[in-house]
Amino acid sequence: MPQESLISTAKSLREGGAAARIAVIPGDGIGKEVTPEAIKAIRAVLRNSGTTSANSETLSSARRQIEFVEFDWGADKFLREGVTLPDGAVEMLADEFDAILFGALGDPRVPSNQHAADILLGLRFKLDLYVNARPVELFHERLTPLRERASADVKFMVFRENTEGLYVGVGGFFKKGTPDEVAVQEDVNSRKGVERIIRYAFDYARANQLKRVCMSDKSNAMTFAHDLWQRVFKQVRQEYPDIESRHLYIDTLAMEVVRDPRQFDVIVTCNLFGDIISDLGAQLAGGLGLAPSGNIHPGQTSLFEPVHGSAPSIAGKGIANPLGSILSAGMMLEFLGWKAEGAALKQAVRDALQENVVTKELGGSKATVEVGNWIAQQVSG
Ligand code: NAD
Ligand code: IPM
Ligand code: MN
Repeated sequence: MPQESLISTAKSLREGGAAARIAVIPGDGIGKEVTPEAIKAIRAVLRNSGTTSANSETLSSARRQIEFVEFDWGADKFLREGVTLPDGAVEMLADEFDAILFGALGDPRVPSNQHAADILLGLRFKLDLYVNARPVELFHERLTPLRERASADVKFMVFRENTEGLYVGVGGFFKKGTPDEVAVQEDVNSRKGVERIIRYAFDYARANQLKRVCMSDKSNAMTFAHDLWQRVFKQVRQEYPDIESRHLYIDTLAMEVVRDPRQFDVIVTCNLFGDIISDLGAQLAGGLGLAPSGNIHPGQTSLFEPVHGSAPSIAGKGIANPLGSILSAGMMLEFLGWKAEGAALKQAVRDALQENVVTKELGGSKATVEVGNWIAQQVSG
């Protein structure tokens, strides 16, 4: 099966640096359990790099090193010190690191979710990670809740706009806590922001010989913000006559991906709808435990994380599925220029699913660490 690739290059690779530097933010809950398994998998596949394949890409990449530096940003630190995203953190990450491997944030002791907003949304916005790439790929047909679907039937990429929309935090309360209370949350969409994500979706389709791009919005109800999406889409699509482009309202898209997912290669949508449709897509392919993502600004420090959250109800039990995190690590390696190694991690995940080396939520009996060890062993040749 051809390996689709993101159009992006990491800083150190572009500048000919000898080492890729990775900031690791495990975060909260199961983020702390799955992230070490992803690091284990990366170390194993890179240790083996250059020995499994004699092609020049693998050999040249073998000469590069990887360094991990861990940061303890998350609920514990916030509760202890009142610090979410430390001062200077964004500049430090942008200047000193190629990529960030991220776990999850969210803790019942922080009901406001303030630390997650500051750290995760803060990094997405301040590093200008405008592409949230969330691939949906069914690795084994037993994993989908859809009837009579082969794995090839469920394979599409969701590009979620990641720096604007309803997430920007523009709004406020009026008469808070009174019976006359008003709460406002603004949907902020810029021409530049809408255009660059739509363009990225078309460029990705073209670069990977994919034929169809579907833009989804709610322009029938959101007549200002999504009118802009409509106009930008109509303009940009003209530059890609080789690609079939189509529009669906988000409610219809949600229905259509369930009715017949074969229709979709690339979906591009706004921040909030992308959040929702990517969880829906994740379930079509086996659930949140398996879904990876990349928060990307091509050529700049980018962040890779599983789509799932901190899953407080299973945290600390050692039963979280690490495969979403391991697949995210694979996307990161690809971004760093280690394409063969990224593909090897993905193949190992496919093999684990084939062999039923899986955690409880997928019907297996393996612990998080056992699945991680199996993957590391598998990619060690
Ligand atoms: P969640 O993704 O944490 O969990 C949803 C469901 O999926 C739960 O039943 C959970 O047990 C299961 N699940 C998720 N990941 C799994 C895995 N790897 N293995 C096995 N089962 C898994 O979503 P939620 O419960 O809505 O949110 C919990 C917290 O996480 C909240 O604070 C939320 O804000 C936060 N959150 C963070 C991120 C992120 O950091 N990117 C993403 C989503 C949610
Ligand atoms: C995700 C999460 C986040 C989002 C939350 C934790 C703010 O659900 O990464 O999908 O909505 O983007
Ligand atoms: Mn989400």
